[in-house]
Amino acid sequence: MTSLHILGAGALGSLFAHRAIIAGYDVVLVTRKEEEHREITLERDSNHLTHRFRTQCVSDTHPINHLLIATKSYDVLAATKCISKNLSSGSSVAILSNGMGYHDSLNALTPSHDLIAATTTAGCALISSSAVNGTLHQHYRQSGEGMTFFGHWEQSGDGMPDWLNPLIGSVEQCSWSEDIHSLLIQKLVINAAINPCTALNDIPNGALATDPWRGQVIQAVEEINEVLSNFHGGAIPGSLQDVVDSVIADTAGNISSMLADVRAHRQTEHEAILGFLLEQPMSPPQPKVAAPLLWSWLEALRARARQL
Ligand code: PAF
Repeated sequence: MTSLHILGAGALGSLFAHRAIIAGYDVVLVTRKEEEHREITLERDSNHLTHRFRTQCVSDTHPINHLLIATKSYDVLAATKCISKNLSSGSSVAILSNGMGYHDSLNALTPSHDLIAATTTAGCALISSSAVNGTLHQHYRQSGEGMTFFGHWEQSGDGMPDWLNPLIGSVEQCSWSEDIHSLLIQKLVINAAINPCTALNDIPNGALATDPWRGQVIQAVEEINEVLSNFHGGAIPGSLQDVVDSVIADTAGNISSMLADVRAHRQTEHEAILGFLLEQPMSPPQPKVAAPLLWSWLEALRARARQL
């Protein structure tokens, strides 16, 4: 049985822990503190599925062969450093966190320097969390299967590694991509158009399809298109508005990860999403694109972060 350690068992990490155990992996959750095991219930269309997961504390020195990182973007590097002692040149590392800007540094941290980047539009939110007799029970609700892609961060021509076969084969709408960079940018666009507006206005994703938010999403996508035409050569295939609209429809009943962070009084991932998009260093330097709505969202989220 292939082992799979998951670092960052929040909403996404827990969803993929379920997906991986169903695909036949021996799943271990890497936890900050010692936990005997963790029970996670995943609810989907009124069906509940509970699994009890093995855990391994970050201080444990047990080797990690296959690692899936699903922490918040701002925790990726610090959390991975805590377990770098468990990794060797034979370890495979994949990262599923939101946002961009950390992949090169993470690749340098992983002994094999063969990072696998992943992205998903699956929506999942924490419903409740309680500790009973020392065991943490968490209940998550999934909305929408979403689309998931994995691919080499650095084009190696090596194709999909065998250890990912069961996961990619068993999860719906999950595939290997030889162009993960474009898919990461596409996901960045989705997060930039959806997450700040929902977080700043305390609304579920589905509200973005209605007035007055619909107009803001359309303006945000227009501004993102302008920004991308500068640093990505405008090379996102298809209509970004259609892609964003379909994720809003698929995750209508869900709250975005950024709104979940705001409600939990946590830091948000604005730097890895809007900060990355708006403050990309460009070579040669390009004129700054006017993106007033995106900047106003970034500034509002930065002001909130300063008060935490
Ligand atoms: O960050 C999130 O919440 C998710 O990536 C997405 C796809 C926007 C759904 O809520």
